[in-house]
This record gives sequence, structure tokens and C-alpha cells, in this order.
Amino acid sequence: MCFNVEDVSVEELPDMIAAERYAFETPLQPIFRLYCPIIDNDREKAIADTAAKEQARARNPDVNEKDMWIKAVSSQESETDEKLVGGAQWIFISNGSSDLKDHIESLAKRHPEGGARLFAEQSFRILCECEERNRLGITGTGPYATLGSFFTLPEYRKLGIGHLLMQWGLEKADEKGLDVWIEAAPPAVPFYERHGFIQKEVTHLQPRQPDGLSEKVAAEWDATAKSLLPITAVTMCRLAGSH
Ligand SMILES: CC(C)(COP(=O)(O)OP(=O)(O)OC[C@H]1O[C@@H](n2cnc3c(N)ncnc32)[C@H](O)[C@@H]1OP(=O)(O)O)[C@@H](O)C(=O)NCCC(=O)NCCS
Repeated sequence: MCFNVEDVSVEELPDMIAAERYAFETPLQPIFRLYCPIIDNDREKAIADTAAKEQARARNPDVNEKDMWIKAVSSQESETDEKLVGGAQWIFISNGSSDLKDHIESLAKRHPEGGARLFAEQSFRILCECEERNRLGITGTGPYATLGSFFTLPEYRKLGIGHLLMQWGLEKADEKGLDVWIEAAPPAVPFYERHGFIQKEVTHLQPRQPDGLSEKVAAEWDATAKSLLPITAVTMCRLAGSH
């Protein structure tokens, strides 16, 4: 079987998001549930909402970010037989000093108001501050590259598809002389290390419940913590020119 990497059109984003969710659920990567929660057990709505957000981002791009979704397809006999087998969202940021507060708030809004959102907000603060602390210490506020998504469908793993998706972005980062910063899930760490990334910090997420919450909000917080934790994230970096 032969695999190619292609650009993803805005219209294809719903298929990408559905494939991404399946990939991250098989087996389940706990950190994915924090970034892409399912509300009221409605998986289809979660996929549709995320796809709509990504389509809106693609149609109204942020001036500070160049988002590039790519897909890996298996090329069978004809172009119409092409099957989506993996994907990545490479993000090239031009100004590394952007507003963390806004970013954290917009991520937390994916969770329902109340204890769940408070839990998410504090979790994203811990993760984003960890990434920012490490990145500012090495890359400074200059441009850098990152990954918003990276996956191969379970049935197609260990065939070199991840490598193709990685090479595509690393070539672009190298051309531009950019460091690449990622937050990796522990099972993917050896894969990233094989591509020149080094571990900077390991976070075992343990948000602290704020004092003074109402009984209802505290119970929502506890339920969210119970359903999402444990989550471990590894801040990793591949320095431009280090390979
Ligand atoms: C991480 C992930 C994207 C890797 O994708 P992949 O397509 O399996 O990647 P590759 O095939 O290029 O490499 C995977 C392994 O297979 C090995 N491999 C590659 N081609 C191979 C082949 N033809 N035969 C045997 N092994 C092979 C590689 O050496 C590599 O080993 P490593 O993981 O120890 O580095 C995939 O496991 C995945 O989607 N996981 C779930 C989602 C996820 O965790 N994403 C990352 C979030 S941070």
C-alpha cells in the first residue's frame, strides 16, 4: 500500500475531525477528552461543533497563526478509492508572546459553565503556562511551530504514516528556521523523540479546587476531575538547526 500527504480543504474538515476523534479514542488518550469534551454523551454533536469551529477558523484566519491541516491517504487503484488514514494540523505562529488568558478562556469554553469549566480553565492554565515557561526560556517570543492535532487511524499504525505527516511539517519548520513546541501524550513520546524532539517537562495534571465554591459547582468540579483524570502531558521541543 502506498500513502500520500495532501492538503485538506475546508469542506473536508468534518471528516478530519471525525477521524481524529476515532484515532484518539482508540485507545483513549485522556488528554484528548480535556481538549475535545463530549457534552451530554452526544458524540455526533461534539464532532459537528469542533468541525464548525475549525471551519470558522479556516475561513477567518488569525493573523498571528497559519493553520495547515494535512491528511494522509492510501492511494488504491484510482483517485476515487483514496482512503483517509491519518491527519495533522500544523500551526505556524508568528508572534510567540500572544495573550495566554484569552487562549485559556476560549479552550475552557468547550466545557459547560460551572464546575466543569472551572476545572478545565485551571487545567489549561497549568498546561499552557508550562508550555509558555519552557518556550519563552528557549525560543523567546519569536515565531515557532506547533501541532494542533496529529493522528493515524488505529488500523494503519506502524506503517510509516505518522513519519510522513511529521516530515511534511518538519521540512516547513526547517525551511523557516523554526523551533517546534508540542504537548505530547505519553504513548507518543518515543515517536516524537525519534523525530528529534526532546522532553522538557512532564506534567501530571492536578488542578486544585478553588475555595468557596457552592455545593453544586464543587460537585461538578469533582465529577469532571473523576471523569478526566489522570492526565499526563509531556512538553517537548525540537530546536531549529539541532538535527
Ligand atoms: C502517534 C501516532 C500518530 C504514530 O503514527 P504511526 O502512523 O503509527 O507512525 P509511524 O508508523 O511513522 O511510526 C510509529 C512506529 O512504527 C514504527 N514503524 C514505522 N514503519 C514501520 C514498518 N513498516 N514496520 C514496522 N514498524 C514500523 C516506527 O519505528 C515507529 O516506532 P516508535 O513509535 O517507537 O517511534 C499514532 O500512534 C496515533 O495516532 N496515536 C493516537 C493519537 C496520538 O497519540 N497522537 C499524538 C498525540 S500527541
